[in-house]
Amino acid sequence: MSFLKEIERRRTFGIISHPDAGKTTLTEKLLLFGGAIQEAGAVKNNKIKKGATSDFMEIERQRGISVATSVLAFIYKNKKINILDTPGHKDFAEDTFRTLTAVDSVIVVIDVAKGVEPQTEKLVEVCRMRKIPMLVFINKLDREGKDAFDLLDEVEQKLGLRVTPMSFPIGMGYDFKGIYNIWEKKLNLFSGDNKQNISKGVVFDDLANPKLDKIIGEKAAGTLREDIELITEVYPEFDRTEYLNGALQPVFFGSALNNFGVKELLDAFIEIAPSPQPKKAEERLVDSKEKELTGFVFKIHANMDPKHRDRLAFVKIVSGVFRRNSPYLHVRNGKKVKFSSPNAFFAEKKEIVEESFPGDIVGLHDTGNFKIGDTLTEGEILNFKGIPSFSPEHFRYVNNADPMKSKQLAKGLDQLMDEGVAQLFTLDMNGRKVVGTVGALQYEVIQYRLEHEYGAKCTYENLSVHKACWVEPKDIKNDEFKEFKRVKQRYLAKDKEGQLVFLADSEFTIQMTQSKYPSVKLHFTSEFKG
Ligand code: G4P
Repeated sequence: MSFLKEIERRRTFGIISHPDAGKTTLTEKLLLFGGAIQEAGAVKNNKIKKGATSDFMEIERQRGISVATSVLAFIYKNKKINILDTPGHKDFAEDTFRTLTAVDSVIVVIDVAKGVEPQTEKLVEVCRMRKIPMLVFINKLDREGKDAFDLLDEVEQKLGLRVTPMSFPIGMGYDFKGIYNIWEKKLNLFSGDNKQNISKGVVFDDLANPKLDKIIGEKAAGTLREDIELITEVYPEFDRTEYLNGALQPVFFGSALNNFGVKELLDAFIEIAPSPQPKKAEERLVDSKEKELTGFVFKIHANMDPKHRDRLAFVKIVSGVFRRNSPYLHVRNGKKVKFSSPNAFFAEKKEIVEESFPGDIVGLHDTGNFKIGDTLTEGEILNFKGIPSFSPEHFRYVNNADPMKSKQLAKGLDQLMDEGVAQLFTLDMNGRKVVGTVGALQYEVIQYRLEHEYGAKCTYENLSVHKACWVEPKDIKNDEFKEFKRVKQRYLAKDKEGQLVFLADSEFTIQMTQSKYPSVKLHFTSEFKG
């Protein structure tokens, strides 16, 4: 197959949702359709079980599983589908944000009864800002839930999307009769004693056809006709360009658990979803069709076996062909490296691969050289953008609890930070180390992993910080900046890249600081240049 065809047939995406909306179930059903697994229940649930939020063993268990489910790939109708796993737990939101830099589109799963939930709002906001094409799947139609039109309104208002239904339910919960697929003009009935059977779908070009009344009953047929008429009047027609630009989001309804509406979703998805997209680097825009290899690390999975310092760096191929044993430039280190056993992911297995194409993810074994955001090229100096650090929400001093092991502690912290578990700040004034995280859970993870993987012990001490603000002085010689540094000395730190950070203790302090030193810009993510 030609290089261009290989690119065209790839669909790399993530599924995002609030926990429990049905992400795992949907993923599994997609794999079933792709023939990648034979039975339901094969995809292990990698979410953190309810009530286990303080149990770091649960996180370790989850970490073990998540290597297998990080990338799930399969072939469906000759398209190569790569699903990138995104943790649903809010304490791991930053992992999800990073994974979203490696997808070309997303599917948003919403529970019909719960509607739009907080975690969905946060994740969709990131996708909206990055103009990632989104497709919405409203799940659990076999249960009683919100009215379909009300839900569409909610999706528009709370998520700030502009939707167009591509399918529409007939009834819901006990009365759920099926789905009319507007996209294919097909009626799919939800039937059978246990409501688990999938009907093949009858094509209904014209809903006025009296056969419809016979099949679903007069009342339901009447309602469906009214609903579809309303949809045609109120919602915009599907336009692929708008969808690809992030300006229009098609919506599908179904029940992942019952396999209902999933095939329709997948069939439409492979038709409309984008193949690998161009990606911005600091230096220029890189097109997937370029012949030379480029790619970036968006995730690092480390030390699954504490006896070996093994790390697997997940690289998204942006352009060109990745070849086993070819030398590539690790841009940050300025060194050429070869990989003798790059892993490709297929269903739940990983295997050594000779070639990978744009859109694919390769897993590279690494002994501690890679960092999240690192770029690989054939020699060009390129730095892909879009993996910023956001301000953490929790901050604690980290203290060494075993003075004999300070080297181990430093190394452990360093590597865990490269993996993106948390962020480390070093205070300018006294060199004390501060660990910032998105969720309180990470502190336990760090403590546990430092001890088990690096033989180091640490304790924490609370610190009252509201937000980390990255500081951008207009001119470091400027008096205002000097004054800012003098007055705020106690609250200034450096992040791991050596960028200056102001640890503000309240929103009020941020506002006051900004009005007092207008030439000193405060940013809430580390990537503020251009
Ligand atoms: P998540 O990955 O988004 O967190 O959700 P997951 O797929 O694990 O689904 C959460 C729960 O919702 C599961 O039930 C799952 O069986 C159920 N579910 C998913 N899709 C549907 C659907 O279409 N209809 C109905 N009625 N339920 C659905 P659970 O009891 O929490 O877990 P389990 O014991 O079934 O695994």
